[in-house]
Amino acid sequence: MSIHNENNYNENMIKIVSPLDGSLLGAVKAMSQSEVDTNIEKAKKAFYEWREYPLSKRADIMYKAADLLLANTKRVAELLLMEIGKDQKSAESEITRTADFIRFTADTAKSIHGESIQGDNFSGFSKEKFAMVTREPVGVVLAISPFNYPINLAASKIAPALVSGNTVVFKPATTGSLCGIELAKIFLEAGLPEGALTVITGKGSEIGDYIVTHPDISFINFTGSTEVGLDISKKVHMVPLLMELGGKDAAIVLKDADLPFAAKNIAAGAFSYSGQRCTAVKRIIVINEVADKLIGYLKDEIGKLRVGNPLTVQAEVVPLISEKAADFVWGLIEDAKEKGARMVMGGKREGTLIYPTLFDEVTEDMRIAWEEPFGPVLPILRVNTVEEAVALANKSEYGLQASVFTENITDAFHVAGKLEVGTVHINNKTERGPDHFPFLGVKKSGIGTQGIRYSIEAMTRVKATVINLNR
Ligand code: NAP
Ligand code: G3H
Repeated sequence: MSIHNENNYNENMIKIVSPLDGSLLGAVKAMSQSEVDTNIEKAKKAFYEWREYPLSKRADIMYKAADLLLANTKRVAELLLMEIGKDQKSAESEITRTADFIRFTADTAKSIHGESIQGDNFSGFSKEKFAMVTREPVGVVLAISPFNYPINLAASKIAPALVSGNTVVFKPATTGSLCGIELAKIFLEAGLPEGALTVITGKGSEIGDYIVTHPDISFINFTGSTEVGLDISKKVHMVPLLMELGGKDAAIVLKDADLPFAAKNIAAGAFSYSGQRCTAVKRIIVINEVADKLIGYLKDEIGKLRVGNPLTVQAEVVPLISEKAADFVWGLIEDAKEKGARMVMGGKREGTLIYPTLFDEVTEDMRIAWEEPFGPVLPILRVNTVEEAVALANKSEYGLQASVFTENITDAFHVAGKLEVGTVHINNKTERGPDHFPFLGVKKSGIGTQGIRYSIEAMTRVKATVINLNR
């Protein structure tokens, strides 16, 4: 597990280049199948030792890892900024949030209790029979993370898995793998035994199938696109999956909403890190009567966003992760223009930097109405009634999160109750945190639930030991 410099680069290495200035940051191995086998074998072997560690000792290692991560905030944030192009402030807050996450995970694991169930609750059985119900680790967890939170979304799989006694094989996104390796080193330095956490590097498109179908993987915890998630779910059999996938989060604005407040929230929710967040606001559904006013406030708020390269400016809207990503977003913009959407602002591109773009009068035949841009483009769809808003929101194949802005709590609950998503935010932008809340997607946005306690529960299984006093 190492980061190589330019001098020892060879054809089995993948160069990691900064999306901000094209500089070569390092290189990682494109691992072969036999190297994957070795890593998984190590994790399998370590499982029998690691699961026997007392929970308090596993938790102490997590606390130490959190401390080490925090102590390295500046260094890791600088790497994160260069590797995935996140601005300095967000890069640093990703590190501190992750240290908090790891600590909270250790605290939570220590407070989870089993239960005992008496037999006589069921007819025909006596109190002499009872079950002691405990939670057991599942074995070797394969953690696959996306590029956009290379520290946080990796640790939010690794820490709950490890603290529960599982060992982890970690496959970071290739763009983000230098950060992933740094994170793994920190966990190991904190005192993990050999093999408890191993890292596999290499392109998912080349090595992914081999890893996900490996017979020694007991559980797959994946965050990434719906396309890859669906592909994995078709290939894997009898292995539990926890998947957090794409989204098309709607901000629904009702006619009594506090419009300046809604606009401020929506602009921040849609455009921070250029919309490269699963929970970014990805469409506005607004009641026609207040649409023009809302657009006025949105123009003010979007106009305040700072656009540029984080190497030179503290900006919310930054260059996208790759040329391919920028071309995709640009394609959505072109399609909306061609089909008659009204561009309110933006529509400007400098290489991979796309200016925050707002479209009004978006109709259902446009790609931007349905597709996840993972970029700074936000469509407005106008409706006439609350029921129409809900129906349009639910028409998406995705179901990650949604927001509803209204001053009427009854309407808020009415709409929240009808939305087919994992989480509804009332009067706030869509977002994952705080990280101990449940986080999940329905429909094509995922399977299973994350969030500290939920992640621990997902990556452990129930075991019942039945005691018979009356032999
Ligand atoms: P991605 O292309 O799907 O990649 C995610 C991870 O899967 C990477 O580690 C990737 O490795 C790996 N991978 C690719 N092909 C694979 C295969 N055939 N088998 C196994 N693994 C494979 O996603 P991304 O571009 O990194 O992230 C953006 C997407 O993730 C967006 O759709 C976003 O909505 C979603 N996301 C969802 C959440 C959530 O919690 N719901 C959070 C963050 C992001 P390589 O990098 O080597 O290809
Ligand atoms: O990209 C997906 C992340 O899980 C979103 O987290 O809402 O804190 O940005 P966030």
